[in-house]
Amino acid sequence: MPITEQSQLVQLGNTCGEIWSSAGKKKSPKVNFTPQEFHDKITNWYKKNKRELPWRLLWEKFKNPYHIWVSEVMLQQTVIKAVIPVYHRFLSTFPSLYDLSCAQEEQVRKAVRGLGYYSRFRRLHAGARKICDQSKHPQINWPKNFQEWKEIPGVGDYTAAAVSSIAFNKPNAVVDGNVERLFCRLWDIRLAPNLPQLKKIFQKINQLLIDQQAPGDYNQGLMEIGQRICLVGEPLCASCPLKSHCISYQKKTYHLAPAPKIKPQPIEINMKLTVIHHKGLFGVLKRPNDAKFLKDIPGFLTELQHGTRYACDGSSQLSSLKKVRTMGTIKHQITKHKINAKVCIAESPRKLRHSFLTWLQAKQVDENLTANLDRKAWQYYLKTVTD
Ligand code: ADE
Repeated sequence: MPITEQSQLVQLGNTCGEIWSSAGKKKSPKVNFTPQEFHDKITNWYKKNKRELPWRLLWEKFKNPYHIWVSEVMLQQTVIKAVIPVYHRFLSTFPSLYDLSCAQEEQVRKAVRGLGYYSRFRRLHAGARKICDQSKHPQINWPKNFQEWKEIPGVGDYTAAAVSSIAFNKPNAVVDGNVERLFCRLWDIRLAPNLPQLKKIFQKINQLLIDQQAPGDYNQGLMEIGQRICLVGEPLCASCPLKSHCISYQKKTYHLAPAPKIKPQPIEINMKLTVIHHKGLFGVLKRPNDAKFLKDIPGFLTELQHGTRYACDGSSQLSSLKKVRTMGTIKHQITKHKINAKVCIAESPRKLRHSFLTWLQAKQVDENLTANLDRKAWQYYLKTVTD
């Protein structure tokens, strides 16, 4: 074995030892592969089996980092199936980074409606503006390496590693939830896969394993094997290119590794969403940026039952509404927030004027709501009035 491979193996073994002792085990497992064997299996699998996803096709055709960046922002905390239609809508609205940088915030909201976690797109928009400000149109002075990407608003370790590896061929390893689960099984680690200490070690180990020549294919291949083969319930081990290295596979303990994820304590929120109407028009409100929760989204006037300003406190407007009638309650979950929202209806005696308030026809309302919670409330309202 060449000396560099030997030293890589020693380093890998030491890092595995760290994982092993953090998992409370004394004896470290033998690392039964070299980084090259490992990454070759992944990149070969990826070349043969990768899904034809829209951002991959666009990348092959245009080599435009914008297409990759947008996809990676959308894919955070969101499944591919939900991302695809919004990705198409977004790119037909903003075909280039420059188009996005020139957009109004309201256009960005509309283009991403339904995906949730709107603040990531506010940051993407700010990031696009920063890159365009630093460039001489039509040339774009793209950040290229991990550090340069990290200087862009909203770009964290995951996005910086993903975009710099896929679009700039820089060897920065990514560890998402799928990779965490796959690594736990590979070494039969029966801990919660999202333990922060474990994530740090996985990051370190993945940085040793990454294919230096094809880091983008390696990262995408590893995530995709996690998504499509190393499934949460019953993994499809027979089709896995890594099975000869996988301890859970050899020991048939894949149902024990990893342990269930650590879930934060849910926070219960009771709120009221009021559909305000006046002569066939409906009042829709843009929530202010400093709202602690449901930031920056147009919605219904919202009255809170707790003192915290989770959403927009619309009580001043609501105080002039006389007949507020409760229609029912809907439930909604956003990360750790469990929301019980009373859906109310109120007729406004006049077209209330407020800088955040827009009056719309019924058919325009849905497309002007960004938050899924608001859309759910609107659908509930429509269903209840037509029943
Ligand atoms: N998850 C997030 N980004 C991904 C990508 N580029 N390929 C596969 N899975 C992903």
